[in-house]
Amino acid sequence: MNRIGIIGAMEVEVETLKEHMKDVKLVKKASMEFCCGKLNGKEAVVVRSGIGKVNAAVCTQILADDFQVEAVINTGVAGSLKAEINIGDIVVSTDALHHDMDAREFGYRRGQIPQMDVFSFEADARLRRTAAEACRRVNPEIQVFEGRVVSGDQFVAAKSVKEDISAEFAGCCTEMEGAAIAQAAWLNGIPFVILRAISDKADDSASMDYPTFEREAAQHCVRLVEEMLKSL
Ligand code: ADE
Repeated sequence: MNRIGIIGAMEVEVETLKEHMKDVKLVKKASMEFCCGKLNGKEAVVVRSGIGKVNAAVCTQILADDFQVEAVINTGVAGSLKAEINIGDIVVSTDALHHDMDAREFGYRRGQIPQMDVFSFEADARLRRTAAEACRRVNPEIQVFEGRVVSGDQFVAAKSVKEDISAEFAGCCTEMEGAAIAQAAWLNGIPFVILRAISDKADDSASMDYPTFEREAAQHCVRLVEEMLKSL
């Protein structure tokens, strides 16, 4: 893989990666700053997309069009949807979907984008394997789970909402960009993987836990991404 795009929604998710880059050139587009250079010897473009699915999709399309990236990695934090997935643990995506897509009125199942052939967007097998192996090497004290990421333009912070989303989609974690990045990558035929460290349990404790664990969780993903690049 020649050039890899790395997207984080927030500065806390990408700042360390940007600090570690060499031969940096900055390119601005769509109010985003694309940081191009070498990370662990690998050609990379690191960018903060901003929060939410529209920002994430626009960002991914620019990585495809203007930087010709051959893979997209999404790094960041997420709320856990499973009791056994704890704060600090990592989820490597098997696939991603939009939990807030709802065209049941027209006979589609909840989550299905009307008139698209796929229900969820499958992450790349090699990127998944490389991520899981890298995570076990650099974060041995943390559990790594491989599973579905469910995204929506919604911070999930109520037990009832979490239970509803979990019952419907069998996701491992929820966040606000992954499925948009996955969809944009899929439309462009670019392999992708979503890597998320758990910052909260997406329940009534989420708004308390999130600010406490955001930074530490984000760093777990940063370590993982840097290690992963060595093997790509
Ligand atoms: N990102 C981190 N935690 C989240 C949550 N509970 N809901 C949505 N996005 C998140």
